[in-house]
Amino acid sequence: MALTNNSNGTVLVIFGATGNLVQNKLLPAIYHLLKGNLVPEKFEIIFVSRNPDVTKESILKKIDDEPMRKGQQNIQEVTDLFKNRSRVLTLDSENPEDFFLLKNVLQEIDRKNGEKLNHLYYLAVPPSIFKSVITCLANAGLNKESGNISQRILVEKPFGTNLASAKDLVGFIKKYFKENQVYRIDHYLAKETAQNLLTFRFSNPLIEGIWNRQFVDYIQITAAEEVDIEGRAVFYEGMGALRDLIQSHLLQLMALTMMDVPQPMKAKDLHKEKLLLLKSVKPIKKRHVNEIAIRGQYAGYRDEVKNAHSNIETYAAVHLTVNNSRWGGVPILLRTGKALKEKTTEITLVFKDRTRRKITPNMLTIRIQPNEGIGIRLLAKKPGLKNELEPVDMDFCYETSFKDIQPDAYERVLVDAITGDQSLFATSDEVIRCWKILQPILSAWEKDNKHLYEYDKGTWGPAKATAFAKTHGCEWLMNTSHVCEIHHLGGIV
Ligand code: BG6
Repeated sequence: MALTNNSNGTVLVIFGATGNLVQNKLLPAIYHLLKGNLVPEKFEIIFVSRNPDVTKESILKKIDDEPMRKGQQNIQEVTDLFKNRSRVLTLDSENPEDFFLLKNVLQEIDRKNGEKLNHLYYLAVPPSIFKSVITCLANAGLNKESGNISQRILVEKPFGTNLASAKDLVGFIKKYFKENQVYRIDHYLAKETAQNLLTFRFSNPLIEGIWNRQFVDYIQITAAEEVDIEGRAVFYEGMGALRDLIQSHLLQLMALTMMDVPQPMKAKDLHKEKLLLLKSVKPIKKRHVNEIAIRGQYAGYRDEVKNAHSNIETYAAVHLTVNNSRWGGVPILLRTGKALKEKTTEITLVFKDRTRRKITPNMLTIRIQPNEGIGIRLLAKKPGLKNELEPVDMDFCYETSFKDIQPDAYERVLVDAITGDQSLFATSDEVIRCWKILQPILSAWEKDNKHLYEYDKGTWGPAKATAFAKTHGCEWLMNTSHVCEIHHLGGIV
């Protein structure tokens, strides 16, 4: 049964069809949705490219790749379906005239289907041409909704590069598209475990009862990547770790972890609570930046980007606090880095030690990826005649608890945008607030090339980061080991 049967038919228009994102994330996601019959009955795709040599076959070459088809039965059927439902349109995203060609194609599709379809414009294009695509869409009248026919845009991050540019972009888009037409993707929010975070918190009174400053000592959110910048020198030189991961994904995960229960659990209420939490983050004073943030760069980065003076960070860690009655005084550490020891995204709450024995404290870890799961570290009496305590781990792993294959985040993103559910997308207010929280750090780092610490690839970042965490009464947790047996049982390092 098609998940979106109730929704109108949809035309997905993909700008930037030959880019990495489309090839690596979007095509596999569409393939799986088609295979699972999870799109509306009337569903068509237009790949937009400025290059006249681009063909449907060259774009769809990816779906013949082995990994995507692993263990699948009706490959040919789905591949044919994909091909039959898509077409390529050569169009210059900066030429308003060309958008009338798009309008004609969309009208032709409507005629063929005997009804008007919804339009979903996916902007997988560099931020430098966002504005042009939006203006050209509006100029051709492709932003106008009528009756229950929607015109939505799906925008990838980065949404601006600092507070001023994000505000400018929000203001600009607002002139042409209403907030409920704009879907700002934060694919971390669409990861299965991130979604489960809310269910886990709000459906288990056992958990919700200890989710506050009385019990929690500190919170740590890590998004470590094993990969380096993967040759994306131009992109990364204008970005850095703080903008790339912390401004978006990690602040969003922090908001989901710490916000109050939305009442009811509708998209609007969820966003309201998230925004309240983000607004309660204690503002960072410029003069305190070096105390509450640290950054590093992996050895060899400057050669890789051919910029001997680059002070772009590939590692960043930030200490924040929240001014509200639930969390006041609880340190929150966020960190991310490229070329680190292993790929892992996890949220850990470390609980206060009531034993006064300086033994491993209770911890609760939500592993977002890989090997998704939730683990709790408790203390138990070690068997024997002595009264000794030992940490023990309990976890639940998606792989063993749920046999079904989890949908990829981009499958979720597409289905929600097609059905018009904005819960897992970032609102303009949230995006601006996230920039506002970090702007003092961005401004200070722009002018400072002294406090940038080198680290070797394959480590957990600059050595100084250990002292940084200690200053804030925390330790970096590498051992959230108890979650689905990925890590060694190494303890705190
Ligand atoms: C993106 C960043 O948002 O997330 C990339 O721009 C990063 O630099 C990627 O590699 C990580 O995503 P995931 O889903 O692989 O953790």
